[in-house]
Amino acid sequence: MKSLKLFSFGLVAFSLMTYACGGGSQESSQSSTTSSAPAQETKVSLEDKYKDDPVFITGSAKAKEAGCTACHMVERKVVGPSYADVAEKYENTPENVALLTDHVINGNVGNWGEIQMPSHPHLERADVEDVIKYVLLLKR
Ligand code: HEC
Repeated sequence: MKSLKLFSFGLVAFSLMTYACGGGSQESSQSSTTSSAPAQETKVSLEDKYKDDPVFITGSAKAKEAGCTACHMVERKVVGPSYADVAEKYENTPENVALLTDHVINGNVGNWGEIQMPSHPHLERADVEDVIKYVLLLKR
């Protein structure tokens, strides 16, 4: 008898609570999901975006090997322009791959400022081309 009374009291209290809080809590959880979604999208880096592409895998490994990473980063200008800026400036065409491969092998200055990119005569042309294809893949 005593336990039945307690049970029914609990039931009333519970239903009052859900009645009082139901509407409000649903609204706040909805607004928090919509505001966090765009923030997550901008966090995806270009490396994450293209990391499964075979052009990316081959090219980024060869860029490290050739020492391009000393002066270039994917999304930030260091000594040379970021790869993302280069990809924005040049269409990904065979002509531009050939042109930029020449600039890397022979060295270049003036397209991005006063600092000169040194020549890289010791690199295989095919390897440089692989790196350039990877650079031009990195469109934002
Ligand atoms: C010692 C620093 C340095 C190294 C090492 C270097 N670069 Fe550069 N790179 C630069 C600079 C500085 C520029 C800007 C040259 C200019 O203004 O034309 C540049 C420009 C470029 C460009 C754009 C060229 C253009 O005509 O717009 C590409 C593509 C590039 N580098 C790729 C590479 C690759 C691939 C490697 C590795 C083989 C490499 N760089 C190594 C400093 C470097």
